Amino acid sequence: MALDLNTNFALPNCLFSLVVALIIVSVTLSLMQKKKNNEKEKKLEVPPGKMGLPWIGETMEFYKAQKNNQIFEDFVQPRTAKYGKIFKTRLMGSPTVVVNGADANRFLLSNEFKLVISSWPSSSVQLMGKDSIMEKQGNAHHCLRGVIAKSLSYASLDAMVPKICDSVTSHLDKYWNNQNNISLYRTTKILTFKIVFECLLGMKVEAEMVGMFERVLEGVFALPISFPGSKFSRAKKARKEIENVLVDIVQQKRKEMEESSRRGEEEGEEEEEEGSMLLSRLVVGLIRGEITEEEVVDNVVLLVFAAHDTTSFAIAMTFRMLAHHPNCFSLLLQEHMEILSNKRGGGENLTLEDTKKMKYTWQVARESMRLFPPIFGSFRKAIVDIEYEGFIIPKGWKVLWTTYGTHYNGEYFRDPMEFDPSRFDEAIQPYVFVPFGGGPRVCAGYQLAKLNMLIFVHFVVTCYHWSLQYPEEPITMDPLPFPSQGMPINISPKLL
Ligand code: HEM
Ligand SMILES: *[C@@H]1O[C@H](CO)[C@@H](O)[C@H](O)[C@H]1NC(C)=O
Ligand SMILES: *[C@@H]1O[C@H](CO)[C@@H](O)[C@H](O)[C@H]1NC(C)=O
Repeated sequence: MALDLNTNFALPNCLFSLVVALIIVSVTLSLMQKKKNNEKEKKLEVPPGKMGLPWIGETMEFYKAQKNNQIFEDFVQPRTAKYGKIFKTRLMGSPTVVVNGADANRFLLSNEFKLVISSWPSSSVQLMGKDSIMEKQGNAHHCLRGVIAKSLSYASLDAMVPKICDSVTSHLDKYWNNQNNISLYRTTKILTFKIVFECLLGMKVEAEMVGMFERVLEGVFALPISFPGSKFSRAKKARKEIENVLVDIVQQKRKEMEESSRRGEEEGEEEEEEGSMLLSRLVVGLIRGEITEEEVVDNVVLLVFAAHDTTSFAIAMTFRMLAHHPNCFSLLLQEHMEILSNKRGGGENLTLEDTKKMKYTWQVARESMRLFPPIFGSFRKAIVDIEYEGFIIPKGWKVLWTTYGTHYNGEYFRDPMEFDPSRFDEAIQPYVFVPFGGGPRVCAGYQLAKLNMLIFVHFVVTCYHWSLQYPEEPITMDPLPFPSQGMPINISPKLL
């Protein structure tokens, strides 16, 4: 500044005083600005709430509410009543801000990679693998999403529908036929497991693989401590076994694909269809050196994890709500009888067009997921200091958004605790109905989950009579929700 004045010394007087005046004004302005910023920073506080005990915080309260499937009623609601829609707490060692509402969902979910990144417990990361999509950020994440999305494009879905039908009908033949008493939730888990492998990935699975995966899943949210017999050690051991099986499959696939590309273009249509399956797409990336073998394995494990408990719970809750609401059931049944009447006979495969006619069924399924979200929300981590709603969320803190914040709120859904599929007659505003999340990390398997649910409902309601054994069976969470008895139902074949 002094230098400037010196160089301007020769300037005529009036111009000189003008320059001085300008300098004074600009310095004052910048000082005022600085002061204002300081004041603003001082004013911004972290959201209200109770941090509880050191490290443990309110973890026990949270776990207890979760176990009873009462996270909203016993944990979120009492705190929002006291502190407002945004409050702080401490969970598993991390200071955490819980946010509620459509604006909060939009703010958090759409700012993935910019302000926040997804944040999973260390046990999940160790079991799913550090190369799975949930640990990827930015461009690496985008590329992997692209590969998955291609296997769920319109053409792929069109080819997938008959395959899902085939999986569903063989499943019903095996587990429902000649039975009068089955566990809907447990048997459906076997089906959703098979569907990810056979219809999305294009892999054959042996029956014992289901058990291995179940053991991994049991450890995904367990404390990450390894001692003989702990849930986490058992899970890690199972993960290793799966890895061995998958590495063999991937290397075999690679060999086949390299050989067939050497043989040239003489392959028929069958090969082409095969090539659209996700495993082939991943192996193509592997051959081109775009992805590693670890990435292929980790993502297969992750997809199975993401797909199977969620979809089977959504199916179970859809049937529970249908049993409780006979009027809805008869409307739904009518929809399926109409689709069936355009077919030559029973047992015929459906088409993608048929599934588009299942509008009411999808409303019933969505309404069931609104009340019973398979994933109640998820954690993010602030990668910068975030200013939100007049509060500061410090860098490094976790942020939890929940489906309950909108799904159970009368502002967004009239009489929110009532089951009413017709509320989906009208369009729902973005970030209000969020069982599949939103933003760059919105569920990558949404289309598959939808087809799986619609097609399963179709074959069950057209082929079987069914009724719940425990209409009020409690739902528990560990950490994903499930019916505590496995949802036993009585069944008998429909004579068409
Ligand atoms: C009713 C069934 C399902 C529900 C309710 C559901 C829900 C969700 C939710 C809420 C997220 C976002 C999590 C977050 O924001 O942190 C998510 C992510 C994901 N889902 Fe699903 N999901 C279902 C079925 C599936 C299926 C069948 C697949 C696979 C084929 C799948 C694959 C994925 C993947 C790969 C991600 C991670 C996406 C990413 O990080 O970019 N999901 N799912
Ligand atoms: C249904 O589709 C599957 C898989 O594409 C096929 O194998 C099966 O023969 C089809 N079934 C009927 C009845 O068309
Ligand atoms: C169904 O089967 C289970 C176990 O096989 C049994 O405990 C239960 O009593 C049966 N329920 C009915 C209604 O048959």
